[in-house]
Amino acid sequence: MNRGRRHRIVIGSLLDPRLVIAVTMLAMVSCDRTNPSGVDAGGVAVSLDADVRRRALAASPLPEPPPSPTNRWAEDSGAADFGRRMFFESRLSGDGSVSCATCHQPERRFTDGLRLSKGLGAAKRHAPTLVDAAHHRWFNWDGRSDSMWAHAVRPIENPLEMGGDRTAATRMILGDPDLRSGYESIFGPIDLDFEELPERARPHGGAAESEAWKSMPVGDRERVDSVVANLGKAMAAYQRTLRSEPSRFDAWAADVSSGGDGAAHLNDAELRGMSLFFGRAECWECHSGAFFSDGEFHNIGIPAPGGLPRDSGRYEGSLLVREDPFNAAGRHSDAPDGVQAVLSAGVKHDSEAWGAFRTPSLRGVGDTAPYMHDGSMPDLESVVRFYSTLEGAIQLDHHQESVLKPLMLEPSEVEDLVAFLESLSGSYAGREDGKP
Ligand code: HEC
Ligand code: HEC
Repeated sequence: MNRGRRHRIVIGSLLDPRLVIAVTMLAMVSCDRTNPSGVDAGGVAVSLDADVRRRALAASPLPEPPPSPTNRWAEDSGAADFGRRMFFESRLSGDGSVSCATCHQPERRFTDGLRLSKGLGAAKRHAPTLVDAAHHRWFNWDGRSDSMWAHAVRPIENPLEMGGDRTAATRMILGDPDLRSGYESIFGPIDLDFEELPERARPHGGAAESEAWKSMPVGDRERVDSVVANLGKAMAAYQRTLRSEPSRFDAWAADVSSGGDGAAHLNDAELRGMSLFFGRAECWECHSGAFFSDGEFHNIGIPAPGGLPRDSGRYEGSLLVREDPFNAAGRHSDAPDGVQAVLSAGVKHDSEAWGAFRTPSLRGVGDTAPYMHDGSMPDLESVVRFYSTLEGAIQLDHHQESVLKPLMLEPSEVEDLVAFLESLSGSYAGREDGKP
């Protein structure tokens, strides 16, 4: 991969006028973030080269999320309403204190602002945003779920997160007439008896829970699994509604696409940052397309505090997704013969994937500090400085992503890149959810 050091930002000289975002001197407004003008104090225009402009315009607008054929309720508004209720339901947790929204807080763009999430215990990783998450093909940093709904059972049962279980969740619904009628009006009657279900039971749990699970009739276990799969589908229908609204970057792209100069939307620093992002710094190679993610797994070697990284990322994730009884090929999938089922069955489990994590989207990234799968980078400046120097990067010989080379950015370029990243945030649907 070519990592040329050519400077593509042309300051003060306009190249081919068709290719250039001509920022005229008509508007000699001061250049700050609240009043972006595209013209800096000295009146020097930033022009973008053709490749940068093309890539940038291809990164907007964000289309609708792709369909989710394994979830026939994905677009069902009744299911989404029920899913919203479940999302804020702390009775799903072992001690009634944790809901999905504990770690995915609406006002924090559905993250928690923590390095590592905290539920009943300390989670292993940093909580990613759920806004626009329906665009992912693989879920979680390691892609161990192949749909949003398949993922839901994991936090419910993870002792460090919600510490609940599928049988207790089913009992909660059976035992609450209002929830039960809400559930049954969407998914049909639950053919299980509250009294006959153990209070707590799940496969692979603690000894007592596992025993209780094994002692349940197979038919009951299947029915409990299908209740929890439906809960996941309802919550996924809700999460599909969490969508970003256009950012200033989108406003710029819309303006430029329709013949405008975009100057009202991005200032010089942001345009210079854009030039780096889609040009010399080659961020777009992985943070590609309108979602700013190629959906793939890469090892960028972020430093591991205290020596070697222990989190194998996609290496383990690729096994987990194949073995997941709730995956696209499983009995609870609504498209067991579909494309995703084939993809999931064919996932390779090889050592190349050791330490690789899914490329995160960068939409709204300014709102979701700290960063990376382990939350180890407190702000965007630290992230960009890391890409600039690759200082402390873990070199796992051939596992290391070969496209990454130190960019050796000037301090002002670091600022520009950060400014551009911050222009990718706008408001989003769901922000007010959960408020009384
Ligand atoms: C204790 C904190 C915590 C709770 C509670 C929690 N999550 Fe998460 N969530 C996380 C963390 C951490 C991750 C990343 C896990 C990983 O990659 O290993 C995550 C990942 C996700 C993802 C994947 C997003 C992506 O970008 O791939 C979805 C979807 C999700 N959670 C939904 C939920 C739902 C639904 C619930 C409630 C049933 C829930 N979460 C409860 C912390 C939490
Ligand atoms: C080789 C692919 C690749 C390239 C090139 C790349 N990234 Fe990343 N980026 C990733 C991956 C993978 C992660 C997550 C790594 C992890 O958590 O271990 C990431 C994480 C990030 C994050 C943190 C996001 C979050 O929500 O935690 C930011 C910000 C970011 N990259 C910006 C950039 C910028 C700016 C550039 C260009 C200088 C760039 N990336 C180049 C793959 C890449």
